Amino acid sequence: LAGFHKLRVFNFAAGPAALPLPVLEQVQAELPDWQGSGMSVMEISHRSKAFIRVAEQAEADLRELLAVPANYKVLFLQGGATGQFAAIPLNLATPGSTVDYINTGSWSTKAIGEAKRFCASVNVAADAGGKYSSVPDETSWQRSADAAYLHYTPNETIGGVAFPFIPEAGAVPLVADCSSCILSGPLDVSRFGLIYAGAQKNIGPSGLVIVIVREDLLGRAQTGTPSIWNYQTMAAEGSMSNTPNTFGWYMAGLVFQWIKAQGGLAAMGRRNRDKAARLYAASTATRWTCAAARS
Ligand SMILES: Cc1ncc(COP(=O)(O)O)c(C=O)c1O
Repeated sequence: LAGFHKLRVFNFAAGPAALPLPVLEQVQAELPDWQGSGMSVMEISHRSKAFIRVAEQAEADLRELLAVPANYKVLFLQGGATGQFAAIPLNLATPGSTVDYINTGSWSTKAIGEAKRFCASVNVAADAGGKYSSVPDETSWQRSADAAYLHYTPNETIGGVAFPFIPEAGAVPLVADCSSCILSGPLDVSRFGLIYAGAQKNIGPSGLVIVIVREDLLGRAQTGTPSIWNYQTMAAEGSMSNTPNTFGWYMAGLVFQWIKAQGGLAAMGRRNRDKAARLYAASTATRWTCAAARS
């Protein structure tokens, strides 16, 4: 592994993002012969007992990390977070529904564009107006009285706008694209109707998307919903109505175990606050140095 280590760089990309080295090393070590099977995890049946154990353990670990309440399903789907931009209106709204979105950047904009393909009335309840440098004041949001859901992006990966609070949605299901913040600290899942996250930032390989959905929101899908994105179908079939992304699921499980070994989400939250503080302190110091150099 010595040569392997030398290749590691400081990867600050938002995604696909750095994965824990111990996880990569474990994957590397067990790739040709996974658990004495004489095969890699990618070569065994997703319906084999051995893989089902991996899948169930990964779900159990994620539930433990996020303290997911019992009345939520956890789905391991495909098509990334972008697939969910379509799956959410298809599953939670009718073609005639009104749906509410908060636009704080490019990913919210894409989610809104996709929702317009499946719902007659997409109400942008708040829009930072193309500047996308702050969260519009919650009291100024123009929400619909009858929205099927309220969608927002807690952390806008490109512009960098992060919500310092969870919106108060009342009886309307709150839907969050947590692609770039999931597992970065504790999260009160019970405040949400649905949380989704593309895996490639904080969980594992791209393509895999995790959906955590409250059970009462299942069974409402529009007739044209593809079955691989029908939450009720996928919940009933353990996310295996087709062949899941077995490698992604396995790696996600290893990352969940790694996070648990680090002390869970409270520890991750502390670590991330510390990293952010150091980064902002360094950027402030750099600004002072540049200003001093200019003067
Ligand atoms: C907040 C957010 N939403 C959605 C996406 C799109 O995810 P995917 O590429 O998995 O479709 C990204 C970026 O990858 C993102 O950062």
